[in-house]
This record gives sequence, C-alpha cells and structure tokens, in this order.
Amino acid sequence: MYPILNVSVALTDAVNRFGANCFETLEKGSKMALQDYQTALVTGASSGIGAATVGMLAARGLTVHAVARRRERLEALTKLGDVTPHGLDLRDRAAIYQVLGALDIDILVNCAGIGSRFDPFHELDPDNIDATLETNIGGTVHAARAVAPGMVARGRGHIVNIGSIFGLHAIGSAVYGASKAAVHVLSQDLRHDLKGTGIRVTEVSPGRTDTEIFATMTDDKNVQTGMAEGFEIITADDVAQAVVWALDQPWRVNISLIELTATEQIPGGVGIHPVPGRK
Ligand SMILES: NC(=O)c1ccc[n+]([C@@H]2O[C@H](COP(=O)([O-])OP(=O)(O)OC[C@H]3O[C@@H](n4cnc5c(N)ncnc54)[C@H](OP(=O)(O)O)[C@@H]3O)[C@@H](O)[C@H]2O)c1
Repeated sequence: MYPILNVSVALTDAVNRFGANCFETLEKGSKMALQDYQTALVTGASSGIGAATVGMLAARGLTVHAVARRRERLEALTKLGDVTPHGLDLRDRAAIYQVLGALDIDILVNCAGIGSRFDPFHELDPDNIDATLETNIGGTVHAARAVAPGMVARGRGHIVNIGSIFGLHAIGSAVYGASKAAVHVLSQDLRHDLKGTGIRVTEVSPGRTDTEIFATMTDDKNVQTGMAEGFEIITADDVAQAVVWALDQPWRVNISLIELTATEQIPGGVGIHPVPGRK
C-alpha cells in the first residue's frame, strides 16, 4: 500500500537528473497519512482538546466517532461534519469493548481525562484516586486495546495519547502525574508491542491548557478562573493542531512525542522547602 522503496528509487533518480532542488516538488507530492485514513475515534470529545480535535478531523473529511459521558454535548458536534456520538463512561470496561470494539477505526485519539483534586496527597479522597487512575490510565489502555485488532487486521492505524507535562516532569500532583507517566510509558511501549504492524503511536503532552478540566480539580470558581489568568495560556485548538500535525505526516514518519506549553510556563526546576520546627 505504501511504495516506500519505489519512492526512494524515484527520488534517487530525480536527484541524479535534476539536483537536490527536486526534493521540494517530490515531497509535496508524497502521500500524507491523514488523507489515507477514513475513520477516527476521539475520546473526551464533549469539551476541550477532544472537542477541538473532533472539529478539525471532521473538517478534513473523516468520519469521526465522538466519545464522552455527556451525550448532549456530543450531539452538538454532529453539525461539524460526519460525527457519530457515543455516550459512554470510559470507566466501564465492558462498554468500551462492546461499543468501541465494534467500530473500524483508523485513528484513535485518547483524550478523555480528569485532573486530581487539589487536596494534599495525604488528604486525597481514595475515590478520587481511583477515578483519576481508572479514567486516565484504564480508559486509555482499554480504548487502545479495543480498536487495535481492527488496525492490525487492516494494516494501518494511528494511536494518539494525550499525556501531560505532569507525566514527563515532577511538578506536584502525584496521582495525576502517575497517571500521565503511565500514558507516557504506554505510548513508548506500544511502539514496541505493535512492531511490524505499521501502526503509528504518538504522545501529545501539553502544559496548562484553557479547558474545563480545572473544574475537576476544585469546586472554587475563582481558583478555576485564576488558572487561566496572569499569562497567555495555550488553547484547546493549539493542542488539537499538534495532534493533527502528527497525524498528517507522511506514513514513514512517526512523531513519538510532542511536549507543548505556553511560552510563559516552564516545567521542571527544584524547590527548597524548610520544615517548620526543624533546625
Ligand atoms: N487542560 C490542561 O491543562 C491539560 C494539560 C495537560 C493534559 N491535559 C489532558 O488533556 C486531556 C483532555 O482534557 P481537557 O483539558 O480537554 O479537559 P476537559 O475539557 O475537561 O475534557 C475532558 C474530557 O474527558 C471526558 N471524560 C472524563 N471522564 C470521562 C469518563 N469517565 N468517560 C468518558 N469520558 C470522560 C470529558 O467528558 P464527559 O465529562 O462528558 O464524560 C471531557 O470530554 C486529558 O487527558 C487531560 O489530562 C489537559
């Protein structure tokens, strides 16, 4: 399906005849993966990065399956193009395999996720810990497992996992960070586990992005609003564009990891935190 060897021979031939400038013309004519794909499944599609990704993929003519719990939000996306809503809780493993496993999917964008509550670790509600791990890790792994057999059978597919800078750096939100570190290792290891299938895997890990996710961390509206203030925060569209860019590369290119943050947000560093009462 992808005549890489033939393209390579044609390139060598053309360079010999016309010189290196011919590359620009040949590159523009080479096959772009997004055009070869027909169907996409986007989880976390009812708001934020997922909704923005659905809009961009539908605008590119793909059939898009949109997944989240708030079905009424998904219904609103149907006016953007060929979009099919699936009201589904990604903590419901049986539903994932029953509904998502029945679809023929070329592109999976694993976007559903929640933030951990802002409480200190030793005061975190155990139910919130489970919700974070089950949604961010369990939902991501099982969605990929549900659609991967079809991708392998058809010999094409692209899995994009939305991670976070919290999965790449120690920032301070241990459970959320652990969930996103799992997404990072999952993405790296999937490339090994799916070797020989032609399926591409990409992790897109954003910094703070202006979405509704802040409402999962705190009920305090002032704190939620404040998270997007005081600097020029990146938008859901910025992240969705990175997703589409990775998908749009020629098949021979696998974009493994994109980390993107606001220019004014710099992850990493180290803090000194004296403990009161100690000399
Ligand atoms: N915003 C940021 O600062 C930021 C930074 C780094 C990474 N991220 C990651 O980006 C991804 C998208 O988040 P966002 O910022 O776009 O936040 P968002 O606007 O709150 O979107 C989160 C999406 O996940 C869905 N979701 C949550 N729990 C679900 C469940 N159990 N089953 C099905 N769907 C579920 C939500 O839909 P329903 O509630 O309708 O189910 C919603 O569509 C997440 O993985 C997040 O961790 C965000």
